[in-house]
Amino acid sequence: MKHPLYEEALWAANQTRKGRGPEDSALLFVSWNALDAQLDALQLAWGHSRINHAVAIKSQPHPSILRYIVSRGFGLEAATIEEVWLARAAGCPSECIVFDSPVKRVHEIADCAQNNPGLLVNANSIEELKRLLPFAGELRIGLRINPMVETDAPSVYQVSGDESKFGEAIANREGIIEAILAHPIEALHVHSGSSMKDFEGAIRAIVRIYRLAIEANAALADHGMDRRITTLDLGGGLLPELLENGRAPKMDAYAARLRSELPELWTDFDLVTEFGQWTHFHSGYALSDVEYVLERGSRQVAYLHLGADFLLRDAYVRPRGIAWLPTRSGVALPSGTVPTDLAGPLCFAGDYLEKGIELPALQEGDEMLLLGTGSNAYALWSRHTSRTIPAMYGVDFKQGRVEELSPRFNPFL
Ligand SMILES: Cc1ncc(COP(=O)(O)O)c(C=O)c1O
Repeated sequence: MKHPLYEEALWAANQTRKGRGPEDSALLFVSWNALDAQLDALQLAWGHSRINHAVAIKSQPHPSILRYIVSRGFGLEAATIEEVWLARAAGCPSECIVFDSPVKRVHEIADCAQNNPGLLVNANSIEELKRLLPFAGELRIGLRINPMVETDAPSVYQVSGDESKFGEAIANREGIIEAILAHPIEALHVHSGSSMKDFEGAIRAIVRIYRLAIEANAALADHGMDRRITTLDLGGGLLPELLENGRAPKMDAYAARLRSELPELWTDFDLVTEFGQWTHFHSGYALSDVEYVLERGSRQVAYLHLGADFLLRDAYVRPRGIAWLPTRSGVALPSGTVPTDLAGPLCFAGDYLEKGIELPALQEGDEMLLLGTGSNAYALWSRHTSRTIPAMYGVDFKQGRVEELSPRFNPFL
């Protein structure tokens, strides 16, 4: 099956041809149409009238893309104060920014209170709460809960085990309820892990924090207090999926399962989500020159200008499942069966993006389109070997427009 962005990516690559200089050995792209479709599908899946889909900045922090997300009425989740600044610069309304850093400094919290009153800041533990309390008048305060559930997230992205550094363990139920009684906490937050294929673990986690919220609200009522836990921040974590007729089958199923399990989430609570990878993965693609090709036995080794600098996790952990589209003189090559290693440009032995995949015979001067680079790629740009970040282009295929969003640059010089 052809990737849905196949035609667009070919077209966009050819559109940029005239303006490319010799230094433009690779280019990055965001598809506004694909991002739109993804955001629409997210909203459709949840169908909640009081929801802030705060897209995780860490998965794609390009300022133009953040501005676009905000212009569409979506929020942003910041994992650091620097990401709060990015959200601010993108024009995100304070009440749509969520600040989730697990290691906040007091001056960072003060910065949020002064410049973004109404922002939701999630304490990572009961101990950390005391740093937030002086700002309770300006900021909305949440508490991250470690739900202590198993998920199928790969171990590096698993954050819900017994000894996770993230969140107050739900086993400390009494301590959590006491903290909620004593302090103006209005949200509970859970993010069970990333790259989850199966959402059952995430559902179990959400059921747990929902029950905790109900228990806390009953305790607040028993103590004659009007305050309540009003907001549940459900985190992100789903693997990317291709849309089908504008719908996202997996996200639809996740939200539908939650709704059947906990219909009260749609009536009694404000919700926040924080999907990063899911939102961005399929809305980005990239282009690299094939600098040259070596024959090694029955294999070809093609040297690209994007490697572990751009696709850090792919080189260090495992390939993400990019759709590779080799082109020659702007035309897609027919599929082929030559076993191929794709070597990146970094000067270290592990810099391969794939090994042994089947591609047509390649040659110097060909180009390679990489479909599926929207998340955790530009965001993870590595300074190892100090390569420059390629120019980023925004593509509106429907309107026939391609514009440069940022030039090639070296953030380290
Ligand atoms: C608190 C929090 N929210 C959201 C995300 C985004 O996760 P994903 O990109 O898997 O949706 C992360 C990822 O690390 C996270 O730590």
